[in-house]
Amino acid sequence: MDFQPILDLLEKNGQAHILDHVRRLSPEKREVFCRNLSTLNLPLAFRLYQKFSRQKGSSAHLPNIEPAFVISTPRTPEEIQRRQEAFRLGESLIRGNQIAVLIVAGGQGTRLGFPGPKGFFPISPVKKKPLFQLFAESIQALSTRYRARIPLLVMTSRENREETETFFQSRDFFGLGKDQIHFFSQGMLPTLTPGGKLILGDETSLLANPDGHGGSLKALHESGLAGRLRGQGISEIFYCQVDNPLAKIADPAFIGCHRQEGADISTKVVRRQNLEEKVGIYGMVNGKPAIIEYSDFSPEDYRSLDENGSIRYWAGNIAIHLISLSFVDRLNRQGFALPYHRAVKEVEGLGPTGGNETMAGWKFESFVFDSIPLAQKSCCLEVVREEEFAPVKNQTGIDSPDTARRAMTDLFRRWLEYAGVQVPPGAQVEVSPLFALDQEELAGKLKGKKVVIQEDTYFG
Ligand code: UTP
Repeated sequence: MDFQPILDLLEKNGQAHILDHVRRLSPEKREVFCRNLSTLNLPLAFRLYQKFSRQKGSSAHLPNIEPAFVISTPRTPEEIQRRQEAFRLGESLIRGNQIAVLIVAGGQGTRLGFPGPKGFFPISPVKKKPLFQLFAESIQALSTRYRARIPLLVMTSRENREETETFFQSRDFFGLGKDQIHFFSQGMLPTLTPGGKLILGDETSLLANPDGHGGSLKALHESGLAGRLRGQGISEIFYCQVDNPLAKIADPAFIGCHRQEGADISTKVVRRQNLEEKVGIYGMVNGKPAIIEYSDFSPEDYRSLDENGSIRYWAGNIAIHLISLSFVDRLNRQGFALPYHRAVKEVEGLGPTGGNETMAGWKFESFVFDSIPLAQKSCCLEVVREEEFAPVKNQTGIDSPDTARRAMTDLFRRWLEYAGVQVPPGAQVEVSPLFALDQEELAGKLKGKKVVIQEDTYFG
């Protein structure tokens, strides 16, 4: 392979320090380094650097923001009936083998600081099942309930792909068929210093970061997986993040609403808890639906109330989507359509003296929700936070394993109470997806049985 064009590109973009490093390497290591280089989209990284370095100061707030239409939790008889119809429609699509589930698990999980991919984190309250196991078991239970074939797509980064696949293999794919699971890797983009210099990750590679969860929509297409799924009759993908153990996998009502609305992409939102909660908001920007980051609002707008005294921008994004495969195709037809963002983070790379150094780095990432304004039609559904959202982001405090476990126990407690079973305060309870996927199924299984809970109890 001729690496000269890449080396010329480095020269042209002011990366003499990397060329010096390459010259110092042995021929074998030089070959490895250049091979690694060739897997990164350097021209894109240089273009993004130019773009973001021209932006001065902090970004302005977005003008022309309005609240968007959200399908609220049904209350009137008509709304209830329409939701029931949506549920049945969603069920029929699952039964028809048209739905796949995508878990994005390529993030670096820096805030959680867990030694391993986040999907391995032992989260469930009693059995301490890892996040991946809960998703796989939900898919197994749904496949049984609907006699359906539901492919599980797991997006990893190149860094955690092998470890993730080995984890599934060593646990017999958590009961799923090996050919039911499709692993694919997202792209990586080089991390740059604020001065535009590439950073060495180690002797034979540059420091690079996964290209954001939006990279899933690119990698699905480029890996050929989207095409293969279409060939198998899949029309929609249920998308969720690896760190939400409460995600209602392939929720039929959500799938049905998406279809009823003829949407390209649908989003679940929950009510913002208070004016202080910082969350991406589903709203309208210049007349188009979008997720608006809280930093894109003026402080006054973000804290504004409507005529009833309720929070005006209440629809908080919980990163659960339904995405039509035809839309994924459209997003990739003329190059990848999503914009990139820049995050300034502390990173660790190889310094000039050969030791590890901490420095500021610019990471470029795309976000899956940036596809919403590009859709011809999008749909948004309000759901109840306590039933569907408990993210595991931080080691302690809010959005941590503690809060997620508490949310799981509280949810299962409510299911049990619905089934007529009292749970004493302090007891941990866990219901396996293989035992029941919802309170109705649990109540059906426990009907006529005397269940007494004294301490930590697992229904599996
Ligand atoms: P976050 O933005 O919360 O990032 O990802 P993270 O990597 O999990 O954690 P921090 O910010 O480093 O602490 C939300 C979801 O998107 C996935 C993550 O795996 C998680 O499921 N993700 C994020 C990717 O799959 N790829 C990425 O490049 C970034």
